[in-house]
Amino acid sequence: MQSQIRIATSVLSADFARLGEDLAEISSADYVHYDVMDGHFVPNISFGLDILKATKRSTELPVDVHLMISNPDQMVPAFLDADADNVTFHIEATDHANRLIQLIHAEGRMASVAVNPATPVCLLEDVIEDVDMVLVMTVNPGFGGQKFIPASAAKLRRLRRLCAEHGVSPLVEVDGGINAQTAPIVAKAGANVLVAGSAVFGQADCSAAIAKIRAAAESGLAKKA
Ligand code: DX5
Ligand code: ZN
Repeated sequence: MQSQIRIATSVLSADFARLGEDLAEISSADYVHYDVMDGHFVPNISFGLDILKATKRSTELPVDVHLMISNPDQMVPAFLDADADNVTFHIEATDHANRLIQLIHAEGRMASVAVNPATPVCLLEDVIEDVDMVLVMTVNPGFGGQKFIPASAAKLRRLRRLCAEHGVSPLVEVDGGINAQTAPIVAKAGANVLVAGSAVFGQADCSAAIAKIRAAAESGLAKKA
């Protein structure tokens, strides 16, 4: 049976001096997760459009762009031009979520909305029927290698209830502190796209690390059944 769990490997934890080689090592993942940080929405700066174009040239995998920026209304068109396959913006950073979703869909890409740990899922009430994916931050965004916030599991269950009330089932992505220990917890609570950065690139064998997280998440799903 095909895995219900998708793994999105965060290149934030890659070695940027050998990005091409690192991307080749994660070809068994389902997505490349690409974290854009502006030093304003989050207290860190990562990479932007040109490195995204280089990433797109260096991988066959779809690229899941996570915009941790204050001005997604201004910047989303440029990320669409740079060929992002999925664009995730933060609900906290825009007054025009619906307009952004329409813009992303008009280009035939996946539209996703993200929530920080302190942002309640009820804020998604009016966009939940329009998005392809919801990203629940399981750490405070800005850095790789942080510890998973345990309250995220209850939040995922609240999100699943909200989806059920609206009769929709978008993909549910979790991001931050995901590894073989936390993967079963989030999968059981309703996540099906797991971002992993340091738990993959920190290991000698990236593809074994991806397989281990995937298997751990599937064991969590089995417990749910
Ligand atoms: C954090 C980023 C994450 C980060 C995850 O703000 O959005 O995607 O790379 O890193 P790990 O998996 O190391 O927590
Ligand atoms: Zn991310």
